[in-house]
Amino acid sequence: MCGIVGYTGKDLALPIILGALERLEYRGYDSAGVALVEDGKLIIEKKAGKLRELVKALWGKNYKAKTGIGHTRWATHGSPSDENAHPHTDEKVRFAVVHNGIIENYLALKEELIKEGVKFRSDTDTEVIAHLIAKYYEGDLLEAVLKTVNRLEGAFAFAVVTVHEPNRIVGAKKGSPLIVGVGEGENFLASDIPAILPYTKNVIVLDDGEVADLTPESVNVYSFSGEPVTKEVLVTPWDLVSAEKGGFKHFMLKEIHEQPKAVVDTYKGFLSVEPSIPFSLKDFRRVLVIACGTSYHAGLVGKYWMERYAGVPVEVVYASEFRYGHFPVSDKDLVIGISQSGETIDTKFALQSAKEKGAFTVGLVNVVGSAIDRESDYTLYTHAGPEIGVAATKTFTAQLTALYCLAVRESDEKEQLLKRFEKVPALMERTLSSAEEVEKKAEKYMKYKHFLYLGRYLSWPVALEGALKLKEISYIHAEGYPAGEMKHGPIALIDENMPVMVVAPKDRVYEKIVSNVEEVKARKGKVIAVGFEGDGVLTQKSDDFIPVPAVDEPLTPFLTTVPLQLFAYYIASKLGLDVDQPRNLAKTVTVE
Ligand code: F6R
Repeated sequence: MCGIVGYTGKDLALPIILGALERLEYRGYDSAGVALVEDGKLIIEKKAGKLRELVKALWGKNYKAKTGIGHTRWATHGSPSDENAHPHTDEKVRFAVVHNGIIENYLALKEELIKEGVKFRSDTDTEVIAHLIAKYYEGDLLEAVLKTVNRLEGAFAFAVVTVHEPNRIVGAKKGSPLIVGVGEGENFLASDIPAILPYTKNVIVLDDGEVADLTPESVNVYSFSGEPVTKEVLVTPWDLVSAEKGGFKHFMLKEIHEQPKAVVDTYKGFLSVEPSIPFSLKDFRRVLVIACGTSYHAGLVGKYWMERYAGVPVEVVYASEFRYGHFPVSDKDLVIGISQSGETIDTKFALQSAKEKGAFTVGLVNVVGSAIDRESDYTLYTHAGPEIGVAATKTFTAQLTALYCLAVRESDEKEQLLKRFEKVPALMERTLSSAEEVEKKAEKYMKYKHFLYLGRYLSWPVALEGALKLKEISYIHAEGYPAGEMKHGPIALIDENMPVMVVAPKDRVYEKIVSNVEEVKARKGKVIAVGFEGDGVLTQKSDDFIPVPAVDEPLTPFLTTVPLQLFAYYIASKLGLDVDQPRNLAKTVTVE
């Protein structure tokens, strides 16, 4: 939530900061702003709305600054307005701050500063940081930041520039992500790696409680108590191509099409670490999977595989529910936290609490160096590359890949099961080659206001995921349900205005779900069915049939997911909606 960036170097800062903000816009997009240090003053430009509003406001202004910071916002404190947009400054506009996170004690700090005569301009929690830095500044920005961070409670990553030291940026991290991009004659601060990819692949991942001090020629990291910290410079495997649209209309469509590669790369990545994985699922009394949103749906699929191949009971829990529930957790439990970003705060805190209770924690993340990666006892990676579209797609099937591999390694038939999996990427390609057929169905159904998504067994989480995709990018109400539960309530909703998407590959529950299709048809419901190619029964019984290649039962989610992603994508795109940046959402949810 919120993207921050900083640049200090040999080139003009503004275009670099705007480009970086574009690649960070997935983190928040209700306002944006920059602060540039130029000719002994701070130039602040900020605008409510998407980044393009800021770009319009900056049109024709040729700022020469070589140091600056930028921000793209997902509002927490204060509505999205020009005033509340970042950067925020002290009263004399000598210090400018961009911030991601929440300062929990900002009201107390604000009162203290108001008593000292400080006048506030915004409703944000962030503004206190700028005033505190100004208050503590005695000629050294780093010193002022160190004094400030020790007054702040909550989660934050921020960057600050000042007119007093024009070629310096100081950034601080506690709870929200912050990385340093190490360049030649230039250095960067950013919330996430895609921001800096055109300039450098050398990255320092800051840990909580660290401050980074940047000039064009140097990067120094300190603890909040001011002790120097030696940091490793990592080389990110991500490249710029993967952070750009590459001819697709939207990132989401590109990322849907990247799934065969994401799946292959994750599979190969898993095989390369498999011999050194330091645990077996069977060593534990129970596996607890903790996740949110799409990652939670991946966990639900993983549960079937882990129970089937490892014979160990698996519980899948929303991270936000786990934290405040009463789950008995002990050293007999394996806790897997699934998170694309590796930064989702609910998942992170839930894993921390499981670890404190003695559980062995495993992160399954897409972002190397993310909080969950660093804090888990062991990390498995998805190798999906950066996912920019706010709706998760390729990371979902990559998560499925890792979970499938983790489960089947417990089976006596491991080799055959892995071998069979190797057909999946090509079958996904084939599924994607019929995207136009799905597009036609989307055209036909785009005007409906409500959808029900049904699936049983492995296809139930797939139905949940399909419904989530539709609602989050098209704003159409879509409910996912286990098909067998339909008769216990949702069947009352069914009429000709409520299309029902039925996920029905030929698996152990196929006959049952065909009966559910009959029940919908008997109530004048419209059925769109996803099933195996050549399925005469579904072709005949449904209003619209979307075929996917036939595949072994355990592997069906890899294929049935794809048309549901495409269906949601095409509906949202045809409705003219902002597919990659749907309203109210942010890609990385770092607030509770
Ligand atoms: C849906 C979506 C969200 C995320 C959720 C968890 O398309 O993207 O539901 O899945 O916010 O995010 P991560 O996986 O980063 O923890």
